[in-house]
Amino acid sequence: MSATVSDGNPPVRRLSDWSDARLAELADDYDTPLYVVDLERVRENYARLAAAFPDADVHFAAKANTSRAVLETLEAEGASIECASAGETERAFAAGFEGERVHYTAVNPPGTDLDRVVELAAHNPELTVTTGAADTIERLAERGYDGRLCLRVNPGVGAGHHEKVRTGADAKFGVPYDRAASLLESAADEFDVVGIHAHAGSGISGDDLGNHRELVSRMGELARTIDLDLEFVDVGGGFGVPYHPDDPPLDLESVADATRDALGDIEATLVVEPGRYLVADAGVLLTRVNTVKDTPETVLVGVDAGMTTLARPALYDSHHHIRTVAGDGDGSTVEATVAGPICESSDTFGTHVLAAPTRGDLLTIGNAGAYGYEMASQYNSRPRPAVVAVDGDRTGVAHRRETLADVTATEEVPWE
Ligand code: LLP
Repeated sequence: MSATVSDGNPPVRRLSDWSDARLAELADDYDTPLYVVDLERVRENYARLAAAFPDADVHFAAKANTSRAVLETLEAEGASIECASAGETERAFAAGFEGERVHYTAVNPPGTDLDRVVELAAHNPELTVTTGAADTIERLAERGYDGRLCLRVNPGVGAGHHEKVRTGADAKFGVPYDRAASLLESAADEFDVVGIHAHAGSGISGDDLGNHRELVSRMGELARTIDLDLEFVDVGGGFGVPYHPDDPPLDLESVADATRDALGDIEATLVVEPGRYLVADAGVLLTRVNTVKDTPETVLVGVDAGMTTLARPALYDSHHHIRTVAGDGDGSTVEATVAGPICESSDTFGTHVLAAPTRGDLLTIGNAGAYGYEMASQYNSRPRPAVVAVDGDRTGVAHRRETLADVTATEEVPWE
């Protein structure tokens, strides 16, 4: 049964809330590095978000975590889905999403993506295609597509945890705000124009509320300006989660109030499109210490997960809290630098206070459920890790651990 806000569904699950015994058992059974995703926590996050936005549709931004187990869980809870590629769209259908619940957002789409999505739409006429360029609209028309269309608007305001994830004012995303109305009205001659969309960026905190409010207010204004019956106004996702143990959770009620207030009166349904919020704290990454090196600068703790397993620290200097599983030992702690096995200096998870580290210790890395496995790579010929799903007492493999044969599976020897 789904948890609701009133039955003690906490706004954040901290690393210390996970059962050390269970994590240790999973590491023993499935080896490390290992992603663990708790499907019950995914349900809780969905229930809390849906309760905060009772009159909105919630679209899960699949790019945060496309594991079949996660998609099926959110499908069963009633979420819709936002897909960033033809591949994600196919995986959404495979997981059971159907009809109007499936949305594909085209960002500079390769022709092969449009070909495939138009083919999918032929069998699923309620699929919605969101485009952010007049050029993409032409390319859809050239392919004979005349179905459900949503226009991504560049609202001119961005927000987010890092400059690399602030999309709202980036020319790459969406059509300029002041051109949106005329483009929508002309597109309506050829397509079934059903919505407008904007996304400020990823990892919005309480400090970004002003920008969020501004974006939503512009979208409400646009919906009222155009002479079309829109089904929905999608104001994007980006709801942040606390990565530091002392950070407060996002005040979802304030975000929801600000959203409703800024949107004003519109006929269309409000859509929110979170990825991270639904899955980040439902996942951890387990990793084992393989090297402890005392240096004049720091205690260097080498672990078997690296930037190929969890790319966020290397890419965005993101902090992910790390703690030792059941390893308080004599209670002493050290400040240590945790680094992976990749031959690059960016392969570090930063500085953490850990129980005196010893080779073989099991560490757990928090908030790994969003953009974790999803962004893993095989750099340095490192097979990607396994993912196990837990759900109450149940445990099952969601992605098996890759082997070197998987890494070389596509390789051919030229000229032989
Ligand atoms: N909608 C659209 C159109 C998006 O582009 C995104 C994220 C979302 C929704 C969901 O954002 P969320 O609620 O998950 O913050 N790899 C980066 C995040 C990149 C997000 C890209 N777009 C990270 O690990 O922080």
